[in-house]
Amino acid sequence: MQDQIQMGGSTQGSILKNMTNLSVRVALIGYGYWGPNYARVLHELPESRLVAVCEVNAGKLQQALGRYPQIEGYTDVKEILRRKDIDAVIISTPASTHFELAQAALKTGRHVLVEKPMALTLKHAEKLCELSERTGCILMVGYTFLYNAGIRKMKECMRPRDFGRIYYLHATRTNLGPIRQDVNAVWDLAPHDISIFNYLLDQQPQWASAIGTRMLNNMREDIAFITLGYAHDVIANIHVSWADPNKVREVVAVGSRRRVIFDDLNNLERVRIFERGVSVGESVAESYGEFKLLVRDGDIISPKIEPSEPLKNQCVDFITAITMNKKPFSDCRLGYKIVQTLVAIEKSLQKQGLAVPIKVEG
Ligand SMILES: NC(=O)c1ccc[n+]([C@@H]2O[C@H](COP(=O)([O-])OP(=O)(O)OC[C@H]3O[C@@H](n4cnc5c(N)ncnc54)[C@H](O)[C@@H]3O)[C@@H](O)[C@H]2O)c1
Repeated sequence: MQDQIQMGGSTQGSILKNMTNLSVRVALIGYGYWGPNYARVLHELPESRLVAVCEVNAGKLQQALGRYPQIEGYTDVKEILRRKDIDAVIISTPASTHFELAQAALKTGRHVLVEKPMALTLKHAEKLCELSERTGCILMVGYTFLYNAGIRKMKECMRPRDFGRIYYLHATRTNLGPIRQDVNAVWDLAPHDISIFNYLLDQQPQWASAIGTRMLNNMREDIAFITLGYAHDVIANIHVSWADPNKVREVVAVGSRRRVIFDDLNNLERVRIFERGVSVGESVAESYGEFKLLVRDGDIISPKIEPSEPLKNQCVDFITAITMNKKPFSDCRLGYKIVQTLVAIEKSLQKQGLAVPIKVEG
């Protein structure tokens, strides 16, 4: 996976403005918890124009119209898709609605940014990719962490020369809810961590194993421990929970020379590097099969990270993809691979942790 985008909306923004001098007209579908963030970003970016919001809940729609009186409000997406003056839609609704809404928008020739996960089955994810490829419309998936300067810095800190051999990755995503009514905690939370792992390792996992429990009587797993197996014996673990009063958003990478941690809730030291590690040295004389362990000790460093808003970076990539007719970084094929992993995790959950193979795409 290449580092294709720059961080910070302003750099790309100015390129766009100079080159095209037009703004992309966008409609937002879903104005719940996350949708208002999209509305704000679209409103702030000079390259985009928020022209309409579709929200089935009348009270929430009124909130949107109160905040942005110049836009049109709808309760049915068909009304938005009948309009000829809308170039793109952003779908920020519950996961179970993503496929139908994205399909309808692509079929009417709109560019689409759909929140994660793009669909709940492989068949649906593939159908959306094919539709995007056939219509030439951009289909992007909202993997915000791939646009997070902290995650980008983490990858920089994992260059082989400094990081050594990669041993394992570990992610924790816990909080008290918010509990979803349509998907379990795995489909809700783990997509972020899978996207981060795939990005850091430049590959997708080969197998998945997961155990989950249903403690909150909602018929879906609210707690899960997931293990993903990558090439070269690298294992990656994800813990997701809607039932933990301690909110944690952390990703840890351990290598032979360093440990790197990304803590999304730490505004002062989002990334920290522990210049410590253990690796295997030469074999011990007179002892068959035993090796010296080389322990390396050093500083704990927190590198400087230029401030930039991940969602803004993501929206700029979407708008740039549209105006310059290029693939966004978080494109539909990237989203498809994450659905592949989620489907394997789901199968493993049903089989009490049995390792389920994943067909690695080229
Ligand atoms: N990238 C991130 O960091 C991040 C953070 C939070 C949520 N999300 C994702 O964003 C999406 C929305 O999450 P949320 O927390 O805002 O959920 P939410 O339930 O708070 O909001 C969803 C809104 O969509 C509306 N809606 C449902 N069906 C609709 C339809 N057919 N047409 C119009 N409106 C419809 C609902 O009334 C609701 O207001 C989810 O896919 C979630 O995974 C991403």
